[in-house]
Amino acid sequence: MNSETRELVLKEIEWGEIYPIWADKLWPSRPNIRSYTPMINATDKDQKIHRYANDNFAYYSGVFFGIKDLQNGKVVACNSGHQCSNTLFRSRGLYVFPKYTGKGLAQLLLQHTINFARKKGFKKIWSYPRDKAIPTYKAVGYTIGETHEHEAYTKEDGSVLVRPNAYAELVL
Ligand SMILES: CC(C)(COP(=O)(O)OP(=O)(O)OC[C@H]1O[C@@H](n2cnc3c(N)ncnc32)[C@H](O)[C@@H]1OP(=O)(O)O)[C@@H](O)C(=O)NCCC(=O)NCCS
Repeated sequence: MNSETRELVLKEIEWGEIYPIWADKLWPSRPNIRSYTPMINATDKDQKIHRYANDNFAYYSGVFFGIKDLQNGKVVACNSGHQCSNTLFRSRGLYVFPKYTGKGLAQLLLQHTINFARKKGFKKIWSYPRDKAIPTYKAVGYTIGETHEHEAYTKEDGSVLVRPNAYAELVL
């Protein structure tokens, strides 16, 4: 990393470190945040993923990556990935704290997740970015589909959060 970010390090982190960031910052008011979802693309699900993840098989329940500030040990940016099938891997949960945006940290995390999936032998990685994050996904080589309104989740108050997302994939 350059001199401005030299005290930052990218490493694998624990579920317990990424969960509070997802719950408080990325998906506030989303109930039942799991380390994985059964989605295999923008529209289809494979319920088998629940069982494999619960049984902690291979990478179905997820791996978590964070960029940490070495001075205080805090995670300043994060992403994760989980297995969807023998050949498919999903990248999910990208978040960079506002103070650290504009330095390329999201691209570093996406690239790291791509490299991880490739090294483990997966053939394709996919994600479902919000429209604002699309340039970041494009920059690391994802092919982006059309943006459409997506019912992201039902909030704790019963209302539905609708937001523009696009399917993104990259052949490994
Ligand atoms: C969207 C989000 C992930 C972007 O994070 P980021 O770290 O700023 O994104 P990038 O890594 O793409 O870097 C952004 C900028 O830094 C620039 N940059 C600076 N130094 C760089 C470097 N060394 N390498 C690459 N890019 C660099 C990029 O060119 C880019 O500039 P641009 O915005 O003018 O094109 C972040 O704002 C965020 O977490 N938002 C809220 C949650 C969210 O939307 N998450 C995504 C869900 S899909």
